[in-house]
Amino acid sequence: MANGHAQRKPDSCCFVLFGVTGDLTHRLVMPSLYNLAAANLLPERFCVVGVVRRGMSNETLRESLMEGVRKFATRAVDDAIANRLLECVTAIEADASEPGSFDRMKERLEKLEAARDTGGNRLFYLATPPNAFAPIARQLGRVGLVHQDENGPWRKLIVEKPFGTDLASAKALNDELLSILNEHQIYRIDHYLGKETVQNILVLRFANGMFEPIWNRHHIDHVQIAVDEKLGVGHRGSFYDQTGALRDMVPNHLFQLLSLIAMEPPAKFDAHTVRSEKAEVLAAIQVPNEDEALRNSVRGQYGQGRIGDEIVPAYDATEDVRPDSTTETYAALKLTIDNWRWAGVPFYLRTGKALGLKRTEVAIKFRQAPFAMFECTPVDGLAENYLVIGIEPTEGITLQFNSKVPGPTINISGVEMKFRYKDYFNAEPSTGYETLLYDCMISDNILFQRADGVEAGWRAVEPFLKAWKQAGGKGLEKYPAGSEGPSGAAELLRRDGRSWRKL
Ligand SMILES: NC(=O)c1ccc[n+]([C@@H]2O[C@H](COP(=O)([O-])OP(=O)(O)OC[C@H]3O[C@@H](n4cnc5c(N)ncnc54)[C@H](OP(=O)(O)O)[C@@H]3O)[C@@H](O)[C@H]2O)c1
Repeated sequence: MANGHAQRKPDSCCFVLFGVTGDLTHRLVMPSLYNLAAANLLPERFCVVGVVRRGMSNETLRESLMEGVRKFATRAVDDAIANRLLECVTAIEADASEPGSFDRMKERLEKLEAARDTGGNRLFYLATPPNAFAPIARQLGRVGLVHQDENGPWRKLIVEKPFGTDLASAKALNDELLSILNEHQIYRIDHYLGKETVQNILVLRFANGMFEPIWNRHHIDHVQIAVDEKLGVGHRGSFYDQTGALRDMVPNHLFQLLSLIAMEPPAKFDAHTVRSEKAEVLAAIQVPNEDEALRNSVRGQYGQGRIGDEIVPAYDATEDVRPDSTTETYAALKLTIDNWRWAGVPFYLRTGKALGLKRTEVAIKFRQAPFAMFECTPVDGLAENYLVIGIEPTEGITLQFNSKVPGPTINISGVEMKFRYKDYFNAEPSTGYETLLYDCMISDNILFQRADGVEAGWRAVEPFLKAWKQAGGKGLEKYPAGSEGPSGAAELLRRDGRSWRKL
């Protein structure tokens, strides 16, 4: 997210992609590189190394990547541009379980770099399952591929999510990576931060004079962050059953949204200052004891149901899911932030799979008008004042307020003022990843997570993970696929005299 400067081409470099045969590469990484190529934002001299664990020809790899570009690109594919990009791709074999293969990879990579004249700048992308992150980084460190001299070419490492499965494992991974690379070389990716509306939260708050004065406990009643998905677990049963909704979504995506909404204004728009403020507010989330964690959380698992025309099988009847699984596919939490701005303002977070509607939004609920001046409408009959930041399916911002219904008497009705990105800006649709890949290539890490931010996130969810593990299946609510989720989620707010925002 370059700060106001015209977009420039990144330095020449070699992009080394582990997990090149995987879903993420095909669906998001290669289509994003294509979008960057189409926008003329790839380096002048560039090569892509696809690291494969078993021998594969360049042709086979290129063909399969081309399929991904055609299928998942967010704009019409220009064959000439796509072919130019694919000509940059070379398959190289390496497997961290066979260390010698990394020595051979180094030799081949250095030859390729010399032939392509990329100047030795290297970007390694770990698009692999998380258990391969540390072993691959260790091998890259051992053979010296990520070593960076002060004035020498840059060496960077992008690490996918999930970053750890709890606080201890996230710390261990941070320690391991930081024993091999410096913090400024590590780019912990969370693709939510590539989304325009998410970045726009910073602009909405800090480029407008009118929101910040009311952005606090005196004016805000509570905040809702909802990430509802229609899709069930599908073929990801074995990964999901070890993970669950809380680990999969909350410490990363939902906390990215929470930290942008709740952080203090940074003094400067640079990576160090912005990331420090984000980590600070995550560290201020109150850590509940086990009883409080259970009282302030709801978890659910979907049963069989219907979404549109499709019958969705129950989660525990899904391929690779244990039939007696107690893994949650829905999580709702009530959190409080211990600082002057937010004391007493609950943050309600929820995320779930196989729900009736797909929706990602942050809804900021303002306090009610304090006094009933209009005879026809008591204070509690007024529509609620929300500022809603919509991320999916529609990117935009909506303000809900009360208005007079036309006519000779004062009647009041709730109305909406809507801003939709696509009405104002003629931007090409993107995957979100291109911003992040481009930023990494130009060494802008403002949209990537720092070690302390990741650990603060895990610290805040740890009590819920522990309490749920302790409780086993007790308290896990079933909800039918295609519904709004477990009824306990509505109850979590109802007992505070509140409710989730309705569409
Ligand atoms: N897919 C998404 O939409 C998505 C979204 C956000 C984050 N992510 C994250 O991205 C990463 C990849 O996800 P994916 O969906 O692409 O998974 P995937 O489809 O299962 O692909 C995994 C890739 O990693 C390779 N791989 C597996 N084990 C490896 C090992 N021990 N060493 C080196 N390479 C190994 C596989 O290569 P082989 O062909 O050799 O098995 C394959 O290329 C995961 O960390 C995931 O959490 C994915």
